[in-house]
Amino acid sequence: MTDRTATVLLGDGVVMPRIGYGTYKVGDDEAQRAVETALATGYRLVDTAEMYGNEVDVGRAIAAAPVPRQEVFLTSKLWNDHHGADAAPAALDASLERLGTDYLDLYLIHWPEPSQGLYVETFAALLEARDEGLVRSVGVSNFLPEHLENLHDATGEWPSVNQVELHPYFNQAALRAWQAERGIATESWGPLGQRTGSVLDEPAVVDAARAHGKSPGQAVIRWHLQHGCVVIPKSAKPARMAENLDVFDFALSDAEMDAIDALDTGTRQGMDPAGG
Ligand SMILES: NC(=O)c1ccc[n+]([C@@H]2O[C@H](COP(=O)([O-])OP(=O)(O)OC[C@H]3O[C@@H](n4cnc5c(N)ncnc54)[C@H](OP(=O)(O)O)[C@@H]3O)[C@@H](O)[C@H]2O)c1
Repeated sequence: MTDRTATVLLGDGVVMPRIGYGTYKVGDDEAQRAVETALATGYRLVDTAEMYGNEVDVGRAIAAAPVPRQEVFLTSKLWNDHHGADAAPAALDASLERLGTDYLDLYLIHWPEPSQGLYVETFAALLEARDEGLVRSVGVSNFLPEHLENLHDATGEWPSVNQVELHPYFNQAALRAWQAERGIATESWGPLGQRTGSVLDEPAVVDAARAHGKSPGQAVIRWHLQHGCVVIPKSAKPARMAENLDVFDFALSDAEMDAIDALDTGTRQGMDPAGG
């Protein structure tokens, strides 16, 4: 069962779906078909990035789908070599061109890249692009609280979203709470623990899934939703795309949530945002 009404209200007033389709490692040869299938399955949020190399096909899929553009929440991300007041708007223009659209719903700074020292300028430039109507909402990805504080100090605004590595092995409890206090939505990347492989075999996950007649993947996606996160699982398989959306007819108990929370290792699998 798909629930198209499952949305989150971002701090800037934009409404974002709670579940989306992640397109990392969906190659340009398969991305158009995969995104068309995702839209036909009921996804209304599509997450891409310049770095994924598939924006052209993602754009083609959205254009070809029998879903109006304004019903699709399209996210892309600014890559690390385009930080700065001049480079950022140019990168946005290039993404819009590749995607064949005149606006993004959400544009994220992919990584803070603190050694470049340009993420504050980049954010400020993207807020101007928002004022020009090229982006509805400006967010970030892989930012730590110190980076978020710097954005707020300089511009008086929090980013609407911080998309971060988040799964049962790295559940980011402290960051989630910190962001919730400031009205920053937390979006989970690698939500099924793609880089770790065995989250879906954990007894806490398997037992919760079995208790509700659901798959381990569905139990983990439900865990993200009940923690208030936006979640963007990736699957190249149509059956799993549908499975991953079918998470609105059950709820994990507090004990099941606690058991999955207890899988946290405190260790990220991806890059450390403090570096770079
Ligand atoms: N901002 C960032 O720095 C960043 C970094 C990484 C990812 N992301 C975004 O987050 C999205 C999701 O993360 P991800 O793609 O890295 O990993 P993920 O969604 O955690 O895992 C994807 C893997 O899980 C498998 N899978 C999907 N559904 C399943 C199910 N129901 N049961 C069992 N296995 C299942 C997929 O295989 P099949 O395809 O074979 O089904 C794929 O191998 C990305 O696509 C991208 O949009 C952002």
